[in-house]
Amino acid sequence: MASFSMTQIRTGNYTSGFSLNYPNKVYARPSRIGFKVFASESESSSEPDLSVTVNGLRMPNPFVIGSGPPGTNYTVMKRAFDEGWGAVIAKTVSLDAAKVINVTPRYARLRANGNGSTKGEIIGWQNIELISDRPLETMLKEFKQLKDEYPDRILIASIMEEYNKAAWEELIDRVEQTGVDAIEINFSCPHGMPERKMGAAVGQDCALLEEVCGWINAKATVPVWAKMTPNITDISQPARVALSSGSEGIAAINTIMSVMGINLDTLRPEPCVEGYSTPGGYSAKAVHPIALGKVMSIAKMMKAEFDSENYSLSAIGGVETGGDAAEFILLGANTVQVCTGVMMHGYGLVKKLSVELKDFMKKHNFKSIEDFRGASLEYFTTHTDLVKRQQEAIKQRKAIKKGLQSDKDWTGDGFVKESESMVSN
Ligand SMILES: Cc1cc2nc3c(=O)[nH]c(=O)nc-3n(C[C@H](O)[C@H](O)[C@H](O)COP(=O)(O)O)c2cc1C
Repeated sequence: MASFSMTQIRTGNYTSGFSLNYPNKVYARPSRIGFKVFASESESSSEPDLSVTVNGLRMPNPFVIGSGPPGTNYTVMKRAFDEGWGAVIAKTVSLDAAKVINVTPRYARLRANGNGSTKGEIIGWQNIELISDRPLETMLKEFKQLKDEYPDRILIASIMEEYNKAAWEELIDRVEQTGVDAIEINFSCPHGMPERKMGAAVGQDCALLEEVCGWINAKATVPVWAKMTPNITDISQPARVALSSGSEGIAAINTIMSVMGINLDTLRPEPCVEGYSTPGGYSAKAVHPIALGKVMSIAKMMKAEFDSENYSLSAIGGVETGGDAAEFILLGANTVQVCTGVMMHGYGLVKKLSVELKDFMKKHNFKSIEDFRGASLEYFTTHTDLVKRQQEAIKQRKAIKKGLQSDKDWTGDGFVKESESMVSN
């Protein structure tokens, strides 16, 4: 049985919180934390504990539905809660859905066997889908209904607007009135929206990002996560700007700009709409190593410059197994989002992810997510440092080299050991 407890979640706004003076430019975030009732997992269990508390939001596990088709409407988000996802991030909404016009087909897949193959494992997925084309009023009604029915579960709205302060303020205000627990800002959609100076157009321009983040964080009263685009040279730069402009968290990565393939019979690109296509966003297993690289770079920056108690990292990209999730957590992620994985395997995937993550934790005797979060980050260094470490290791191995260098080195006391050191079996 779940037990209910009262916990402090958020108060006040960004500018009115406390602030600490950290050395080395470490930012300590004033909290947007208030009071909220939540259900806690049953207390006494020898099983590893998957629950996490992120920016004051308690989740039964770190698995979060990433913004996209799995969070498009009430029915599917309810399903996600019922199946046990730790949190749900809804499909990105904007003020005027009438401006959002989707095409079909809008997805194309890459199989392991390569171009044109209809067999073999799906390893890559491309979409040219825009943000939600459903009226904002409808989406807001559904957010409210979900929060009424699942008050103890975490629902996060994903929002995007044009370069217009009043529009952002109105959207934040309306979304917050539904009772959502946090807001993710989509600074990262790579197709369609940048043509309207939205999404990745903001995430790729640090000056613009700083200004827009400033508006958002002055207005929002719930935690804000900034979702980053990987389509940029150094992702840690916009992540730093988003955090120092008042956001509590970073989410990364959104999809990677790509051309999925050319149909070798028709010579037309995929996905093919009336004979034409446009570059889209790449996701699924194939992007996982790229996402790991981007998350590692953000995590290193955050560890050096931002206080880990108050700033969070939500990792995304190609997660289909508990092991994929463990990798992100080992790099420092607090939560792990899944989008395409749910489109391929369904909402029940969370059960497999949980079992596999617990198995990993049992193997290493980790009791909680915090026991291993960020544990692998320290093993990344520069190539120059790798060369230095290898030279040092070779020197040490030579120093304990088997056998005697010369007959003059035999000693009376160590004679038997010295003989053994030159035996091969
Ligand atoms: C069909 C599709 C639609 C998406 N729509 C959105 C969106 O509306 N907002 C957003 O922030 N990300 C969107 N994404 C990006 C995902 O949330 C995620 O960042 C990306 O797909 C990588 O994760 P994955 O490999 O688990 O899918 C979409 C992804 C897909 C595949």
